[in-house]
Amino acid sequence: MKKVYVGMSADLIHHGHLNIIKVAKGYGSVTIGLLTDAAIASYKRLPHLPFEQRRSIVENLKGVDEVVAQETLDYVPNLRRLRPDYVVHGDDWQTGVQRATRQRVIDALGEWGGELVEVPYTAGISSTILKARVDDVGTTPDIRLRKLRRLLDAKPFVRIMEAHSGLTGLIIENTRVEVDQRNVEFDGMWLSSLTDSVSKGKPDIECVDLASRVTTVNDVLEVTTKPILFDADTGGIPEHFVYRVRTLERLGVSGVIVEDKVGLKRNSLFGADAGQTQAAPHLFANKLTAGKNAQVTDEFMIIARIESLILEQGMDDALLRAKTYIDAGADGIMIHSKKSDGEEILRFCDHFRDFERVVPLVVVPTSYAHIPEQQLSDAGVNIIIYANHLLRSAYPAMVRTAQTILRHGRAQEAGDNCASIKDIITLIPGSAM
Ligand code: SPV
Ligand code: MG
Repeated sequence: MKKVYVGMSADLIHHGHLNIIKVAKGYGSVTIGLLTDAAIASYKRLPHLPFEQRRSIVENLKGVDEVVAQETLDYVPNLRRLRPDYVVHGDDWQTGVQRATRQRVIDALGEWGGELVEVPYTAGISSTILKARVDDVGTTPDIRLRKLRRLLDAKPFVRIMEAHSGLTGLIIENTRVEVDQRNVEFDGMWLSSLTDSVSKGKPDIECVDLASRVTTVNDVLEVTTKPILFDADTGGIPEHFVYRVRTLERLGVSGVIVEDKVGLKRNSLFGADAGQTQAAPHLFANKLTAGKNAQVTDEFMIIARIESLILEQGMDDALLRAKTYIDAGADGIMIHSKKSDGEEILRFCDHFRDFERVVPLVVVPTSYAHIPEQQLSDAGVNIIIYANHLLRSAYPAMVRTAQTILRHGRAQEAGDNCASIKDIITLIPGSAM
């Protein structure tokens, strides 16, 4: 019996997949190399169905003899191990993102005289179209909540952008660029206290109440499917924090980040001069534990944010607090800094990696924006938050437009700074007939 290898994601099975398996079966015994979530996330969005669910579906398809995990987009490690006589694939990978992968398959098969069989692409159906339709339908609170942990498991780092409205949520949901033949996009959204407050014309001092913050969350939930991390500021007193946790969890928010300050909180980027007070470590730890005990799901994340570097309390204090908070049950640590060189953040990462118990590490590279994501990831960072950039870019554009109209006594000169009317009326899906 000849051995046949078929690599696939099999996220949303359609008759194109069945056709490929049928052709493969004609050549011998069929092994499906099922791409893991990490392999898929390395070049496009996470699959809708987690690996184990996809595996149980594929195992039960007629014509499939065996299913193995394919850990990388690259087929070669599995091919060298299994040395199949044939690889069967749709002919749609001759161009585009997968072209290089195809060539590597051909070269590897050549090592033992194997052969690539290409099946004509099944017209009128594609996983991309199906995925777009599923995204249109939306998501559920449960699926969305779990997505952040799935992303942390599947990706070297998770990239998050601030949202403060439905429109910014849509930008994060839909903006995608191709870099080195891979789709790059944001994985989730940060419900920043700064941008939520500022977009309401209020200071970032916890004066926007929870009901208003939740309205913003709902605006974003309504039009997106990506996971949300909520900036809970100090979280309030522990007795109140537990209700916040439950409220956000019920909505399908994936986690909160709560900072170890007490009293009147000001934005961290003011630093120590703003007269802010850091909480006693054991009291903040109690708040974290109370939150962990209050949550209903296993997946909701309570991430402890350490303000020691912001408030100039030193590296040792930051590290000691990180250990204390992890022991108290924190699902992640956010370390913040307002220094522009990023040196203290990288130094914290170095120490953090040596901890006995590690949890995901979050950073907010606002002041040290020159450090590339890859360097932060290599240093051990798991979540990178761009905390304020959509609002910061919109604000000067709006002021410029207002000034231009005032200066000229008409709007024509402001036109270059504006999206076209056609673009803006058709921007939102469902606007046109
Ligand atoms: C926010 O976005 O509100 C934050 C991050 O808390 S920072 O503004 O840098 O403090
Ligand atoms: Mg904040």
